[in-house]
Amino acid sequence: MPEKTWELCLLLLLGLGLGLGSQQALPPPCESQIYCHGELLHQVQMAKLYQDDKQFVDMPLSSAPDQVLQHFNKLVNTHNHSIPADQLQVFLQEHFHAVGQELQPWIPEDWKDSPRFLQKISDSKLRSWAGQLHQLWKKLGKKVKPEVLHHPERFSLIYSQHPFIVPGGRFLEFYYWDSYWVMEGLLLSEMPETVKGMLQNFLDLVQIYGHVPNGARVYYLQRSQPPLLTLMMDRYVTYTNDTAFLWDNIGTLALELDFWTKNRNISVNLGGKSYILNHYYVPYGGPRPESYSKDAELADTLPEGNREALWAELKAGAESGWDFSSRWLIGGPNPDLLSSIRTSKLVPVDLNAFLCQAEELMSNFYTSLGNDSQATKYRNLREQRLAALKAILWDEEKGVWFDYDLENRKKNREFYPSNLAPLWAGCFSDPGVVDKALKYLEDSQILTYRYGIPTSLRKTGRQWDFPNAWAPLQDLVIRGLAKSPSPRTQEVAFQLAQNWIRTNFDAYSQKAAMYEKYDISNGGQPGGGGEYEVQGLSPLAMPLSRRGLAGPMEWS
Ligand SMILES: *[C@@H]1O[C@H](CO)[C@@H](O)[C@H](O)[C@H]1NC(C)=O
Ligand SMILES: *[C@@H]1O[C@H](CO)[C@@H](O)[C@H](O)[C@H]1NC(C)=O
Ligand SMILES: *[C@@H]1O[C@H](CO)[C@@H](O)[C@H](O)[C@H]1NC(C)=O
Ligand SMILES: *[C@@H]1O[C@H](CO)[C@@H](O)[C@H](O)[C@H]1NC(C)=O
Repeated sequence: MPEKTWELCLLLLLGLGLGLGSQQALPPPCESQIYCHGELLHQVQMAKLYQDDKQFVDMPLSSAPDQVLQHFNKLVNTHNHSIPADQLQVFLQEHFHAVGQELQPWIPEDWKDSPRFLQKISDSKLRSWAGQLHQLWKKLGKKVKPEVLHHPERFSLIYSQHPFIVPGGRFLEFYYWDSYWVMEGLLLSEMPETVKGMLQNFLDLVQIYGHVPNGARVYYLQRSQPPLLTLMMDRYVTYTNDTAFLWDNIGTLALELDFWTKNRNISVNLGGKSYILNHYYVPYGGPRPESYSKDAELADTLPEGNREALWAELKAGAESGWDFSSRWLIGGPNPDLLSSIRTSKLVPVDLNAFLCQAEELMSNFYTSLGNDSQATKYRNLREQRLAALKAILWDEEKGVWFDYDLENRKKNREFYPSNLAPLWAGCFSDPGVVDKALKYLEDSQILTYRYGIPTSLRKTGRQWDFPNAWAPLQDLVIRGLAKSPSPRTQEVAFQLAQNWIRTNFDAYSQKAAMYEKYDISNGGQPGGGGEYEVQGLSPLAMPLSRRGLAGPMEWS
């Protein structure tokens, strides 16, 4: 659908919301004519002045956007829309600052030298390694400078009141689903105050935008990421017993889930019944600003009429967190080509497991706060979802859940760790499924991979595919299996955890850095593929530059 039409739809939706008097009007997601749309963005990104398109959209403006655009229009007119690269460079130097200047380092106030988990590690080498990783919080802590609050229009960074932990490398801002695992680590490091601040930032985003964006940049506002906010709250409240914070914010958690219910629902008909589930879906065209030239060039391979739809599917892929993977190409005209991406046509197991878990947590939260009607509402939603998972995604023959392909009306029976997400999320009613899932892993020969669980079994060169292994996906499988009362299944979970720790430790021993992904076909070296270089972090060196991250780091 062309962008204008989407804007119209949005206006209609907003009008409807106002008409019903039940909703505040939300600002349209990113109108910036510099960071999100327009000729300036197009010209700069297509000139490929930087190795990574993300660099330009992260650069702060040195004057008001109107002035920058005025100067740009002059330049455009002078050169009849084809500005020479050197002139464009001069223009950028005059009107933009270098990346990262709107952030300042922040050492978490609740960081302490010897959290208890360190003493519990008996092996001295592993303990020392864990101690070095614990130091990383001080490198990854960031705070937004007050200029961003006073002049938000000059920055793509979204202002956050509280300091936070970033993934690091090219990722200078915080991200949605990454932050859940960051928070797990922070709680292990006994840093609940930092977690609370990060939670507050996310809740503020929901209050302002109606959802949690993919990350804290205006160019991420059109899409979200796997919904783990309710779980973040649960982890924090369980750790601190801070029910007052829960009480103050439960309405905002409910708002976030409403976003998924209202904007990401999909109805599936099977056997004469209709089930409601959720999918990743981003109804906005245009290239992703932070990967603009790649998206624009990919679209050039398609007829013009198909381009907006491609861009929307790419954004939906980014919303899934799996950008990109054969998982979102399957069933299309040519599953080897990224231009075949059809994210929204699949009903993902993990998304529905996350929402099922959130519904259960909301029901428990409301019970603990004494609001029975709301508790019942969420319990019913969970019951409906459990029934839908069973009817649409569960595969009795293979003993696991699969994504459902809406167009081809069948399950995608490829292996992905996400197939086991309902175990991790506690989203099942028959306890026998845990051992069935173990059998599924054995049948698919997944346990033969000694360096980690692969993201898929398809070798595509994309980063969410074989041979890459990612930490969150190890967690989904390991902590899912560990829920089994069967000693054998628990033993396998323990072995998988050992494998992963060994892979991380061996790479760290060689390179003195932790990596976002590992290549398990190659003895667990840093992974590759995808749209940017593998990102690694070293507690020993200063923050790594965006280039050459995969190279060996010095120990001293
Ligand atoms: C500007 O460029 C277009 C083609 O890109 C051309 O048709 C037009 O004549 C040019 N205008 C001037 C004033 O040079
Ligand atoms: C939280 O409350 C539970 C039970 O009420 C108690 O066992 C636990 O020690 C408390 N934790 C903290 C951190 O206060
Ligand atoms: C489901 O999504 C559609 C738009 O795709 C929306 O009109 C409808 O209200 C949503 N359903 C619910 C229950 O919110
Ligand atoms: C339960 O929560 C709903 C939604 O926030 C609210 O309208 C209702 O008044 C609450 N009921 C009680 C008993 O607190």
